[in-house]
Amino acid sequence: MTPTPTKADKFSFGLWTIGYNGTDPFGGPTRPPLDTVEAVHKLAELGAYGLTFHDDDLFPFGSTDAARQKEIDRLKQALADTGLVVPMVTTNLFSAPVFKDGGFTSNDRSVRRYALRKVIRQLDLGAELGAKTFVMWGGREGAEYDAAKDIRAALERYREAVNLLGDYVTDKGYDIRFAIEPKPNEPRGDILLPTVGHAMAFIETLERPELVGVNPEVGHEQMAGLNFAAGIAQALYQGKLFHIDLNGQRGIKYDQDLVFGHGDLQNAFALVDLLENGGPDGGTTYDGPRHFDYKPSRTEDITGVWDSAAANMRTYLLLKERAAAFRADPEVQEALEASRVPELSVPTLGEGESYDDLLSDPWAWEDFDADAYFGGKGFGFVRLQQLALEHLIGARG
Ligand code: GCO
Ligand code: MN
Ligand code: MN
Repeated sequence: MTPTPTKADKFSFGLWTIGYNGTDPFGGPTRPPLDTVEAVHKLAELGAYGLTFHDDDLFPFGSTDAARQKEIDRLKQALADTGLVVPMVTTNLFSAPVFKDGGFTSNDRSVRRYALRKVIRQLDLGAELGAKTFVMWGGREGAEYDAAKDIRAALERYREAVNLLGDYVTDKGYDIRFAIEPKPNEPRGDILLPTVGHAMAFIETLERPELVGVNPEVGHEQMAGLNFAAGIAQALYQGKLFHIDLNGQRGIKYDQDLVFGHGDLQNAFALVDLLENGGPDGGTTYDGPRHFDYKPSRTEDITGVWDSAAANMRTYLLLKERAAAFRADPEVQEALEASRVPELSVPTLGEGESYDDLLSDPWAWEDFDADAYFGGKGFGFVRLQQLALEHLIGARG
């Protein structure tokens, strides 16, 4: 059966994703520019519900007010014609030469002030278009040389910027929250807030932490050798998963931005299971946009662009089907029990139990048979993982 995406699936795409023209550090474009109106119509036709964009995706950096407004009006008309929405917007603080040392954390104070003005302008546009999330990906907020950047001062300036923007949306009454997108490197040698964990710790230092969450990207965590689904589980656990960037990555190398599932497929399966089913015993799921931040490979023509856009959604829906079958399989339920997965949800101490009670419980020490774990009491995790794999590849109902 072919799953067909609908608006209820909340799939969204960055204008810069389908609009990627193939430019990389070694070669120029391999495709002509994609018009915004055409992109909106085609995404709607494929079953997406949302379009996201950086300011500079819609109107080139340095556009006159009139040229900018013209593009905004064209977008608004296309949205009205198709019913597509703009759930998220973001600002480009990385392409123009002025941002070569970053925006919020450039050593040059006048650049930092200019960056804030650029972000505020895009926040106003986002609010006008009904966006609920403002992503902050600080790709140029970093350094190549240790002596060149005072990291503590840079974090203080980052904090100053996010605090100011929090004041701004609050005073304006905008229904917008911020989502910081971590990435370990590229384009900078090292980027500030390189992983989900760094970003979540930083958020706790802010004046309005409730307004700020994370926008983790599959490939970015995997570039750092981390387990993406596990990072997402922690973000959900801490109530910080405000948005997500789905794509594919094959190991620790440059940011590949492949189609979702075209990298670590087993982790993609675990991720969709988590987002849709909330973990083995239910628990918090994610109800925000399923946002694809991928690049149609530069080998593709326009047919390949739209085939790859559709492939992201199709893979997600196929994994959702497979995850549901996995959860419904009685043998999986039995294997989960055998692996004692549900037992981890049982508090380690009994209700009202103190450390004195624990210290006087012989079953916890004197009579506990730790030796039984040598050559016995296996957890059966491998069998469980094989069941997951067989569901994933369609070998089981
Ligand atoms: C990248 C990032 C970007 C951001 C985008 C939205 O590695 O280039 O993933 O695509 O997601 O700038 O803020
Ligand atoms: Mn990326
Ligand atoms: Mn991204």
